Amino acid sequence: RALAQCRGYGKLILFGEHFVVYKVPALVGAVAAYTDCDCEFLEEPGLTVIDERPAVPHYKVKKADEAQEAIQLTLKHLNVDTTKRGVKLTFGGDLCAVSGIGASAAQVVALARAVGRALPLKMSEDEINAAGYEGEKGYHGTPSGIDNTAATFGGVLRFCRTDGAPIFEKKKLREPIRIVYASTGITASTTTVVGDVRAKKEADEAWFAGLLTKYEALLKRGESALDAGDVNALGKCLDENHALCQELTVSCPELDALVDAARSAGAIGAKMSGTGRGGLMIALTPSAAVQDKVKEALSKLAPQVWTTFLA
Ligand code: PMV
Repeated sequence: RALAQCRGYGKLILFGEHFVVYKVPALVGAVAAYTDCDCEFLEEPGLTVIDERPAVPHYKVKKADEAQEAIQLTLKHLNVDTTKRGVKLTFGGDLCAVSGIGASAAQVVALARAVGRALPLKMSEDEINAAGYEGEKGYHGTPSGIDNTAATFGGVLRFCRTDGAPIFEKKKLREPIRIVYASTGITASTTTVVGDVRAKKEADEAWFAGLLTKYEALLKRGESALDAGDVNALGKCLDENHALCQELTVSCPELDALVDAARSAGAIGAKMSGTGRGGLMIALTPSAAVQDKVKEALSKLAPQVWTTFLA
């Protein structure tokens, strides 16, 4: 199988989950792990999906219907009709499918690349990203597009949703950032949680505007810290972003416990990452030794813990 170029990366949101939905910038980092896809056309119509991705227990089962929908939306966007033509898709790679890592975006971006190669179709990276965005709509109604953009382009990105195509820029990091990330083992529905935030916002616009103002100032400091390679300042900003997520009511006791444990074990900053009310948290660590210590501490509380770096 020639899979090397049919990849989509996993991602972790550093700053701005939920706020990003309302067209303010966020910072997102692709992790050094990816999903790949192989696409084969068959004579007999129908869709066959072979999913060999590593996954946490129950994740793929829970997400199966949404995945089917996302795959079909992506295929439709690329004018592939499985009632007319057989499509066999095989997904693999080293990205563990877990809630919060952008596994769905990685999957549909890899899919778009693989279909483009198999047809063949000459697609720009922006077209791959646009196809991934269509697929993401199968997972939740109004995605900001942050996940598929990170999955397509990799690296650390400043991302902003607009009414049209998103605006994003790749950040130049002075040094790779060492991260530990851990799953709560809980999969919350992004649609539900984004919907709850919207309802709270609509019930009290002043409350949300206050949080948004705090977030925008925080992002400026966080981005400056990232640009300057000041990990201590960056860590402090991650902590503050977690506090804003708590105010948004998207954290939960399990996430808070992991964040506290990471900080106690020497992380220089920690926060939830992604939808929240479950999903993932991330911790920033200054050295390989501290990364190991934080991983060990989190392993006592979390069902799955990973180390990675953002570059
Ligand atoms: O749970 P994730 O990693 O898919 O992140 C969702 C991020 C939100 O800002 C909550 C929603 C979005 O579409 O950006």
